[in-house]
Amino acid sequence: MAGSRVIGSELIEDTRQRGRLVFEVLPGDIVTALAREAAARIGIKLLDGPLETPAPVRSDGATSMRRALYRRSAKWVAPGKRTSLNARRFSKIALVGAGGVGSNIAHLAANADMADEIALIDIAPGVAEATALDLNHASGITRTRARVSGSTSLNMVSGAEVIVVTAGRARSPGMTRADLIETNKRVIHSTAEAIKSQAPGAIVIVVTNPLDEMTVEMLRATGFPRERVLGMAGTLDSSRFRNALAQAAGVDPGDVTAFTLGSHGDEMAPIPSHARIKGRPLDVFLTQAQIEACVRDAITGGGQVVALRKTGSATIAPAHSTVELLDHIRGARTGPVPVSVMLEGEFGVNGVVLGVPAHLGQSGLVKVEQLSLADTEHAALHAAADAIRIRVGLK
Ligand code: 2OP
Repeated sequence: MAGSRVIGSELIEDTRQRGRLVFEVLPGDIVTALAREAAARIGIKLLDGPLETPAPVRSDGATSMRRALYRRSAKWVAPGKRTSLNARRFSKIALVGAGGVGSNIAHLAANADMADEIALIDIAPGVAEATALDLNHASGITRTRARVSGSTSLNMVSGAEVIVVTAGRARSPGMTRADLIETNKRVIHSTAEAIKSQAPGAIVIVVTNPLDEMTVEMLRATGFPRERVLGMAGTLDSSRFRNALAQAAGVDPGDVTAFTLGSHGDEMAPIPSHARIKGRPLDVFLTQAQIEACVRDAITGGGQVVALRKTGSATIAPAHSTVELLDHIRGARTGPVPVSVMLEGEFGVNGVVLGVPAHLGQSGLVKVEQLSLADTEHAALHAAADAIRIRVGLK
C-alpha cells in the first residue's frame, strides 16, 4: 500500500528516547514483531491513529521553561531509594519517649518489620503501654513480626541495640529550641544513666531538642565513644529542603537531591552547591531568590509546624527522618547521610557536635564524608559550630 511504513523496534526505542509514552500506528503501517516486543518491554503504548490532536496547553513562562528543560533531559529517571537487600533485623530497639515522634517511629519501625522487639518507654503512665498494644493489634493486618511492649520504666532499654531518645519538652509557639536546654538536659541525664547500666553497648540516637546540645549532653553523660552517639536532625532538615526545592521547581521530591548540615536551629546550613534537580544544578530551574526562599523554608520548617499546632512540634517527618538513620545503621540504605556527630577535625571543626554527611553501619558512625563546600557554606558550618560551643558552655 502506498505510503505505508514499516515500524521497527528502533522507531519505538527512538520514541521512548524522546520521552513519549505512545506511538501512533496509522492505517497501513506494518508493525514488526520486534517492535511490538520493544514497545511492551519499554512501556510504549501502540495506539491506532490518527489520534485526535489535543488542545494546546496554555501556561506561564516559567512552566513552559521547565517543560522545555524536561524535554531536553527526557532520559532523566529519578534515582530509586538506595536500598540494599542485605538489611539486618535488629534484635531490639528501644524508644525513650512515646509522644508524637516516638510513637510514629514505633509505627514505622513495626511496619518495616525491622526489629524482633520494639520497647516503648514513657514517663506518663499508660501512654507507652497503650501505643504498644495498639500497634500489636494492627499486626493481624500488617503481619509484622515485631513485638511492641510499653512501660514507664527506663530499665526497658536493657539489651537494645539502638536506643532512640525523643523524650523531653517540645517547643510552644514563640520558643526557640535553645529555650529547652535546661529542662531537657535533666531528661537526657536520667536516660543516659539507664542506658549506661542496662545497654552499655547500644547506639544512641538523640532526637530531643535542642538537638546538637542534647547530643553533646548524651555524649558527656554516657561517656560513649562518638561512634555510638548520633543526633537526628540533618535527615529531617534535608527532607524539608528537598520538599521546598521540589515545590518551587514544580518537580517531584524524588527528582531532588539536597542536604543540610550545621546545627538544627537558626544556624542550619542548607547546601545549595551540592543540591541537584533532575541531576542539574539548582540555577537551571530556580532563580537565586527562589533558592534563598527554599533555604529559609528549610530553616524555619520546624517552627512553621509549631506555629500551626500551638502545642508541640512536628511528629511525622521527624519519625521518618529517624527511621532513615535506623535504615542506614542496619544496612537497608547505603551512602552518606546527614547526621549530627562529635567532630574531630573534619571540616576544620573540633570538639563540637554538628550535622555533617557521614556513613553509618552496625556499630554507628563509620566515617564522616568530607565534601568540598562553597566558601559561604563552609563559613555557615563554622558559624554553627561557634554558636553551639557557646550554648553548651565550651566558649
Ligand atoms: C523539628 O524541627 C521537632 O525539632 C523538630 O520539627
